[in-house]
Parts: sequence; C-alpha cells; structure tokens
Amino acid sequence: MATPLIIDTDPGVDDAFAIALAARSPEVELKGLTTVFGNVGLDLTTANALRLLAHLGRTDVPVVRGSAGTGGAADVHGEDGLGGQALTLPENPRPIAGDDTTRFFADTITPDTVVAAIGPLTNIARAIEAGVEFPRLVVMGGGLGIGNMTLRAEFNFWADAKAAQTVIRRARPIIVPLNLTQRCVADTEFLSRVDPVLSGLTGTYRAYLAGHREQNHSRQDEGILVHDAVAVAEAIVPGTLQLAVHGLDIDDEGALVEGKHQVEVAEETDWPALRSFMEQRLSG
Ligand code: RIB
Ligand code: CA
Repeated sequence: MATPLIIDTDPGVDDAFAIALAARSPEVELKGLTTVFGNVGLDLTTANALRLLAHLGRTDVPVVRGSAGTGGAADVHGEDGLGGQALTLPENPRPIAGDDTTRFFADTITPDTVVAAIGPLTNIARAIEAGVEFPRLVVMGGGLGIGNMTLRAEFNFWADAKAAQTVIRRARPIIVPLNLTQRCVADTEFLSRVDPVLSGLTGTYRAYLAGHREQNHSRQDEGILVHDAVAVAEAIVPGTLQLAVHGLDIDDEGALVEGKHQVEVAEETDWPALRSFMEQRLSG
C-alpha cells in the first residue's frame, strides 16, 4: 500500500529533482503539490510545478497555489526558477486545483499521510494555525551553526522565519538541515546519467556553485546540491536518513538555535547508496 505524500514546494531546481523522485517512486502516492514563494515568486513556482508534472507524465497530480512572499534565489535557480529552461517543459493541460492550501491539507491529509516541505514554511504554518495536524512532516531547512542566506540562517527558514518558528514550536517536524544536505552533491557524472531534461535545468545552479565553491566546499565540476531530494527520500523511504533528537528553536532571523522543542534532526545518510537510489529512479 503506497504512502500518501504531499510536497510543499518552491520549484526551484533541486525541488524539481525531489518532485521527479517522488513521481517515480512506487512507495508513495503523490496526492498533490502545494506551491509557495521562495526560489522565485509564487506565480513562477506554481507554473513550474505544473510544467514539471506535465514533463513527468503526472498531470493526474493536483497543484494547489499557496502563499506569496518576498525573497528569492534567482542567482541560483535562474530568473524563471528552472535555470532558464522552464518554457522548454511542456504545458500542463490541467489548471491549478485551487488556491487554498489549508483547505487542501485539511481535506487530503489522512493518518498515514506524509508531507514534505521543501520551501519556505508559510503554507504549513498557516495550516497549523488553522488547526490542521501533520502526522509526519519532513522539512528541508535550517542549519546547525551554518547558513546559506546568512552565516547562521538557511534560505527556507530565513525566507519566513515566523512560519518556521510556528512549525518547530507546534508540529513535530523531522528537520533535514544544510549540515547534511550540503554534503549530498549530485555531481556531473550523476547528472549525465539521469533524465537529461532535469540535468538541463542545472546550468545556472552549477555556475553559481562554481563561483562560490570556497563557501560551498565544492569544486568546479561538482554539479548541484540536491537539498530537497534528500528530504523527500526520507519521506519516500523512512530510515534513509539517520535521525537524532535535539532541543531546538528558531530565532527571528530564521537560524536554528538551542531550545526546548524536541525535534528529530537528520544527521547522516549513506550518500553513495542514496545517490544510487536517486540515479536509478531519475534515469527512467
Ligand atoms: O537552502 C536550500 C533550500 O532553499 C532548498 O529548498 C532550495 O530549493 C531553496 O528553496
Ligand atoms: Ca526548495
């Protein structure tokens, strides 16, 4: 019996790999994508979600438009959010299924549903404040002592720190932080072996990392960091990541700090094995 999965997303190049991984994993039934601002604005993240599903042959999956906001990472993901290639993806004949993500969560989440949140947490926080419960919530975000937007704050938590605070204080998320995901490099060999349309989205991201390798500890030819796919892999196959409980909170900048909220944090994974898992699923 496949596990129902909803992905809350701001596609986004690494989001695209995460969505493709879920769409091609029989362990989960992809019940919907809920979109949020983040890497680019909400209009583009929503349009990108629709086109990615069309490319993946999954127009059966509904897209629900969520929260707008400010901020962005066009320098990493391109002005269109998909490395300048968004319009090369097919149009989705199916329009968005709605614009109330709280209602969608409330109507769709069952006790065995897992939600993977791989963008800013605005949609998730709004649902929590409306009384929606998330039985299993896997969140890509945060950094323990590190950040990629500031020295201490990671993008998803930085982009809406108040929402991140709501999630860590009122839900019991599994947090998949930069400390782990920045070690998960989809190098150029990996990119040469997977769906060329996905690899074709990575030019801007690869150039960005090459230009910032000193702070990303990456070499010129190292490809991209698949932050979101690492988190979604845990949603697909629980136990993929080794978790440990930490007492944490999130400050007003969006930085993970010591605190009283006991949350599971992904600390380690067998990256060669996970890389092979992804390669196998994404090369079809
Ligand atoms: O910090 C990495 C996160 O920010 C990823 O989710 C990436 O897609 C961006 O949203
Ligand atoms: Ca993302």
